[in-house]
Amino acid sequence: IGKIRSGEDEPGLAVYDPGFVNTASCRSSVTFIDGDKGVLEYRGYPIEQLAEQSNFLEVAYLLVHGSLPSKDEYDQWVHNITYHTFVHENVKGFMEGFRYDAHPMGMLMASVGALSTFYPESRNISDADNRAIQIIRMIAKMPTLGAWSFRHAQGKPYVYPDNALSYTENFLSMLFKMSEPKYEADPRLVKALDTLFILHADHEQNASANAVRSVGSTQVDPYSAVAAGVGALYGPLHGGANEAVLRMLKRIGSKSEIPAFIEGVKNGNERLMGFGHRVYKNYDPRAKIIKKACDDVFEVTGVNPLLEIAQELEKIALEDEYFVKRKLYPNVDFYSGLIYEAFQFPPEMFTVLFAIGRTPGWLAQWLELTQDKEQKIARPKQIYTGSRGLTYTPTDQRW
Ligand code: ACO
Repeated sequence: IGKIRSGEDEPGLAVYDPGFVNTASCRSSVTFIDGDKGVLEYRGYPIEQLAEQSNFLEVAYLLVHGSLPSKDEYDQWVHNITYHTFVHENVKGFMEGFRYDAHPMGMLMASVGALSTFYPESRNISDADNRAIQIIRMIAKMPTLGAWSFRHAQGKPYVYPDNALSYTENFLSMLFKMSEPKYEADPRLVKALDTLFILHADHEQNASANAVRSVGSTQVDPYSAVAAGVGALYGPLHGGANEAVLRMLKRIGSKSEIPAFIEGVKNGNERLMGFGHRVYKNYDPRAKIIKKACDDVFEVTGVNPLLEIAQELEKIALEDEYFVKRKLYPNVDFYSGLIYEAFQFPPEMFTVLFAIGRTPGWLAQWLELTQDKEQKIARPKQIYTGSRGLTYTPTDQRW
């Protein structure tokens, strides 16, 4: 804690809290987490119930509107989102201009940010109807942008939305459709991906939600705020862990190599990726649900040999004193990469899937921010450690 004078009569007090580990940046009624008990609730509903009984679009409604929809509200919501899945042709032209090997997260971040120029009225965030339509547009268009960034990297033509399909089926169609008349996905795969979207839909003030709120606090349009969220998620410490898990499992290669690998982790050579969480110190409730989704997916695609290594790793780690003492359990990323690989997604797409799932959460956080009269522009203090009052020497005397 450092004291900073902010005026002659007001000494001021600054809390030095890098990473805001102990600083609440807002009041929120969107998502509740009890890390010690392994509880995650969206608007009060336990994640287990939502994953089992709801679907992603209903959960998106719940997050954005704060309560579950009536049948009419749900039908209207789904209709509106389905109606807005197409993006302007010029967005397509814009995306086609990226390098052939462009990272899909870079493409997603740029294209969602660019949407603000297609909907200039989105800058009027004080109008409730205007806010509502931008939210619908963004939830509707993220899968289109995400799928096109995938097709781009593969050199394949972009597939337009098929609005006869459900949200998640339509996404799979835009990714994988290779022939007419329509793409048909196995319902078990659709359900598994929809469940993964639900599990990623919000996680209170994580780095990307904080980025959305921070940028949104300037009263910029929601596309620009969400682009900032996508940028935060792009970073390996946030959205990239499942990719790291997959690389780790491939490197271990076989069950017989696990003991040597665990010894290396215990000696501090590296971390067991997909284990441990800043908030969950008992277990990550999402990991249990994902494990079950893994079984469903592998029933369709055949078992990934890496699953056996992952299961054995988990078993050994959960019985090892090093991990028990430090309360290290599998987190959401431990099994999700295996599922994504079973879908034949390349690792750089994993974070795009996370971003599509997280979009309603970002928007719910953004909407809450715009309604919060106590909210101020995000502008933290600093503890200045640099020089003061230097005298500039012109270059002809310095060089
Ligand atoms: N493997 C081995 N040891 C670990 C691991 C791990 N995965 N995670 C933490 N530890 C150890 C630390 O070395 C430390 O040991 P020490 O007390 O002997 O020094 C102790 O456990 C506490 O670790 P911290 O780093 O203080 O825990 P923190 O809460 O800051 O970190 C984090 C959480 C970053 C998730 C960490 O557990 C980690 O790096 N895990 C691996 C990466 C990962 O899976 N990230 C995904 C998180 S989920 C998400 O972002 C969606």
